[in-house]
Amino acid sequence: QRPIGLIGAMAEEIALFLEEMEIEATRELADITYTTGRLNETEVVVCQSGVGKVNAAVCTQNLIREYGVEAVIFTGVAGALDPSLDIGDIVVSTACQQHDVDATALGLPKGTIPFQETSIFKADRKWIRLAEEAAAGWTGGKVLKGKILSGDQFIANADAVRALRDSLGGVCVEMEGAAVAHVCHLHRIPYVVIRSMSDRADHSADINFADFAVASARRSNGIVQEMLNRR
Ligand code: ADE
Repeated sequence: QRPIGLIGAMAEEIALFLEEMEIEATRELADITYTTGRLNETEVVVCQSGVGKVNAAVCTQNLIREYGVEAVIFTGVAGALDPSLDIGDIVVSTACQQHDVDATALGLPKGTIPFQETSIFKADRKWIRLAEEAAAGWTGGKVLKGKILSGDQFIANADAVRALRDSLGGVCVEMEGAAVAHVCHLHRIPYVVIRSMSDRADHSADINFADFAVASARRSNGIVQEMLNRR
């Protein structure tokens, strides 16, 4: 049986997994620590990718090539774009797109990677459904399904939020999901991203992020654990 890869960008985003799993081994590869073991009944590889698309891509590639993971689940916090989302609410990815790809000078829409058949990487239907089912039992707030936007930028102003929604849609913004999705797409490996909102990506985003990131990261972790229990 192949393990499930669990990634978070920051220590807080994987803390609950490491606290609760039965650890078998740890290994360091390119500055990322991979912890293997069992979380309840599931074989997992847990890792902290670091922030941003390159870190997330390297981590995902190693989960697939070094550990042969069956699927990749990314968990953590994000800035809300959809106005109906409050801090703490959950987003399950239906797809992910890199909002900072810009080849508009070549006549391509924003977010479109040149000479590639798709730039919107769909999440896996089975894992989306599991995430929805796991989140349905959670009474702490709303659960929204939709496209997640990722880029190497911490978004912290309302004009940028409007521009992202107008050009690409998307329900929340973060810095890793679409990199994970892109690498998984190249290898035909299923993925899903679960994010809890830490802020609204507006002028208060930095303060909200500082105040809510840890609590939101734990919510997202809790939902992923419930997904594994239901699998
Ligand atoms: N992660 C959490 N909040 C974010 C924001 N406002 N922009 C990018 N990534 C985030």
